[in-house]
Amino acid sequence: MVNRKIDSQKLNRMNQLRKLSQQGGGQKKIDSQHKRGKLTAAERINLFLDENSFEELDPFVVQDIQNFEESGNQYLGDAVVTGYGRVNGQTVFIYAQDFTVAGGSLSEAVARKICKIMDLAIQNGSPIVGLIDSGGARIQEGVSSLAGYGDIFLRNTMASGVIPQISVILGPAAGGATYSPALTDFIFMVNGVGQMYITGPDVIKAVTGEEVTHEDLGGATSHSSISGVAHFNLNSEEECLEQVRNLLRFIPPNNMEESTITETYEIEDPDTELQNIVPEDPNQPYDVMDIIGRIIDQGDFMEIHHSWAKNIVVGFAKLAGQSVGIIAQQPKYLAGCLDINASVKAARFIRFCDSFNIPLVTLIDVPGFMPGTAQEHGGIIRHGAKLIYAYAEATVPKISVLLRKAYGGAYIVMSSKMLGGDINYAWPTGEIAVMGAEGAVNIIHAKEIKSSKNPDELKSQLINEYREKLMNPYVAASKGLIDDVINPADTRIKLISALKMLSNKRESLPIKKHGSIPL
Ligand code: HXC
Repeated sequence: MVNRKIDSQKLNRMNQLRKLSQQGGGQKKIDSQHKRGKLTAAERINLFLDENSFEELDPFVVQDIQNFEESGNQYLGDAVVTGYGRVNGQTVFIYAQDFTVAGGSLSEAVARKICKIMDLAIQNGSPIVGLIDSGGARIQEGVSSLAGYGDIFLRNTMASGVIPQISVILGPAAGGATYSPALTDFIFMVNGVGQMYITGPDVIKAVTGEEVTHEDLGGATSHSSISGVAHFNLNSEEECLEQVRNLLRFIPPNNMEESTITETYEIEDPDTELQNIVPEDPNQPYDVMDIIGRIIDQGDFMEIHHSWAKNIVVGFAKLAGQSVGIIAQQPKYLAGCLDINASVKAARFIRFCDSFNIPLVTLIDVPGFMPGTAQEHGGIIRHGAKLIYAYAEATVPKISVLLRKAYGGAYIVMSSKMLGGDINYAWPTGEIAVMGAEGAVNIIHAKEIKSSKNPDELKSQLINEYREKLMNPYVAASKGLIDDVINPADTRIKLISALKMLSNKRESLPIKKHGSIPL
């Protein structure tokens, strides 16, 4: 008779090896990780995924399975934990670098494990989340570890626009190790824990003499408010992982899925409070968040790049249950003008939304592009072009509301009819012109004003006439460039109607390998 019973010795060995794998670099290293105020890879994964949903893969990867226990420097599973699980019930692939093993450094085996997970994520159309805590390429492995990074970069690029890729920086990410996160869609960082830089403070001091701390150089605050490398900056690992889960509520698992209106939408009452937010004076600031909060479902907004390029607001929201990407000028900062960082921030966001079939809702109140040598020499022409390109190329539904002003080139840029805007609404306060009224009058009535006995009075009269006759939204509406002038109180209702109407929108671009966005 055949004995079908697995003998207990074999099960014991399996359990023993698994336990060894789960111990990573050992208890001392785990304690040291905790002392630094950091969680272990396993703790992070469990905190992030739905309860008991993690399925680990490759726990037994090691260089020499026969002799690893005696070697003293080989650890089962090496310096990364990989697998898949669920977030809000949806499959998500995950890898978490394990700092307790050789400082989370990337060996050939670690790279192979990460690549396997990335391939599975791409083939099966689910997001991938990387928890980064690594000293970079495993120095002892030389070219093999560098090649491992190369294999990951290739997959990051192939996955771009196919599945969402999210990086969470929960420790060091030095040198080339920064570039896998940089190729992903969203980077989260934890204050005082995550640090990203191409070269650390010691190298900087040796090469340039400049002295800087790790945190000032590459900490969460620097990257979320100065460089724009990080999209989110959180105060604890727990809060950070919760926000990654939150982000996944807004984005589909892959580029083949459509986000659709999921709630049965009942006609709501107009919101008359919306009539009281925007000042009539085109130069007076206000907080556009007060408008966003009133037009989306339950004020539920996930802002991206909150602390960088604050003159434009971008983020995800739901409208009647459907995910939308919101782009809005923020008159509270730099009068909501378009500058280099705002252009890059919005262009990147628009391209993400377009890749993943997320409709765009643009709220416009823009005085123009930011003037000055710093902007010109910094390449505002090149960077501003990115935003034009992104809007023009996007084939998802594009709905806009002109809240107050849209002057000059900035009018054309911001989801205009000419760039393929599907529905362009204006509030009665909307003004469109080549430039602001005063500048325009100064140029076209210069002679008249100069020869007038009372130039100030004439000028203010001409400004009023100009605003009333040429800048009002009906001029654009009369040419079909604005589809309708609406009562602000009806904005949410109109947006939801337009979104429903556009739900079957199909538009394709001319056949090409890919465009050449001005980078
Ligand atoms: C091998 C490494 C390692 C690495 C750290 N360790 N980085 N082992 N390769 N890259 C090991 C340490 O020897 C140590 O082992 C353990 O991990 C913990 O490291 P510590 O230095 O004790 O920790 P800490 O003081 O917190 O400093 C962490 C660190 C530092 C800032 C990451 O270790 C460091 O600067 N490492 C080197 C970073 C770096 O320059 N990497 C190469 C980047 S270039 P023991 O056994 O003592 O516990 C790169 C090229 C990629 O990555 C190119 C792709 C294109």
